[in-house]
Amino acid sequence: MPEFQTDVAIVGAGPAGLMLAHLLHNAGIDSVVIDNRSHDEIAHTHRAGILEAGSVRMLESAGVESRVHTEGHRHDGIDIRVNGTSHSFHFPDLIGDSVWLYPQNEIFVDLAAARARTGRPTYFSVTDTHLGDIESERPWVNATTAEGEDLQINARYIVGADGSRGPCRAMIPADTKQRFFHEYPFAWFGILCEAPPSHEVLIYSRSERGFALISQRSSDIQRMYFQTSPDTDVDVWTDEQIWAELQARVDGPDGFVLKTGPIIDKTVLPFRSAVTEPMQHGSLFLAGDSAHTVPPTGAKGLNLAFADVSVLAPALISALQGTGAEALAGYSQTATKRVWKAQNFSYQMTRMLHTDPSQDAFETKRSLGELNSILDSEHGRRYLAECYTGWPNG
Ligand code: DHB
Repeated sequence: MPEFQTDVAIVGAGPAGLMLAHLLHNAGIDSVVIDNRSHDEIAHTHRAGILEAGSVRMLESAGVESRVHTEGHRHDGIDIRVNGTSHSFHFPDLIGDSVWLYPQNEIFVDLAAARARTGRPTYFSVTDTHLGDIESERPWVNATTAEGEDLQINARYIVGADGSRGPCRAMIPADTKQRFFHEYPFAWFGILCEAPPSHEVLIYSRSERGFALISQRSSDIQRMYFQTSPDTDVDVWTDEQIWAELQARVDGPDGFVLKTGPIIDKTVLPFRSAVTEPMQHGSLFLAGDSAHTVPPTGAKGLNLAFADVSVLAPALISALQGTGAEALAGYSQTATKRVWKAQNFSYQMTRMLHTDPSQDAFETKRSLGELNSILDSEHGRRYLAECYTGWPNG
């Protein structure tokens, strides 16, 4: 039976858990990482494709050999299209930074390879994960390995990077935590298709038929989304209907035409915002989706998880190395500041770009007024560019 005495037990081997494990390893700190999903399941779950510049710098400074520079693409801007008229944002001019287009599931593949090279233990496909004694200095995590063996991890700290449905968040006593939640009447219909890119930059389009996002993956695979109702059944939509809907949402006087091709994947993405505070209790710390979920507009999910880790890793390191536990005590307070900025931006982008079938005409006009306040103003554009490329830490 595998039994470990380690510094940090990390529940969740997604990008947040593995990035944290890597930063701890760089400081000579041991960890054991477990996940109930298999490596291939995580690698093949489609995620958003935009990395903030700070997320890429984090990978670089951590020495993770990521293919982001060889297979990803720097994007210096986006277009926001309103009823068929495009408004271009050039991030380097506006805010002096850029973003990178690189599928977030590929970040996982890069981080899992980096983890394997460290030789430290990672267990995928575990079942029956339990944790306990989180109010003590000797918390533990138990699980069953893929081979059916009992896995026992005794640690000084536990990090819950186990996503929105993992077991860690529930361990924070109900009377000490608050869950903030917002439901949206939207969902996205997401496709992957075999086609060349339709445009140099991503297009976020508001139209009377609803929102569409023309994103990219590579020179021959593209990712696109359109607003749909949450109960949509993707299988009743033919390729022709999907292309007609996407095209209708970007139609405009400039005659812009999408480049089409066979659709190779169709999924519905739900929309919700949630935050749990505080993101810590005793020896347990939450990072990423286990503590917060954002709607997909603006692609903040993984970037926010990395931002949590950028606060948590140095705090754990200084606590474990005996150079001070104040940063760890203040982790939630520090991290939630950015969490709420990202919630606000994701909410704002969603509300400005989508049309709500249930909303009154006032709200439709008001949200267009909000969007135009940004598009028509240098200050507004810089504000949006800063939110999109990511706020400086702190
Ligand atoms: C992608 C997803 C997003 O939510 C977004 O805002 C930008 C890009 C994507 O999957 O490519």
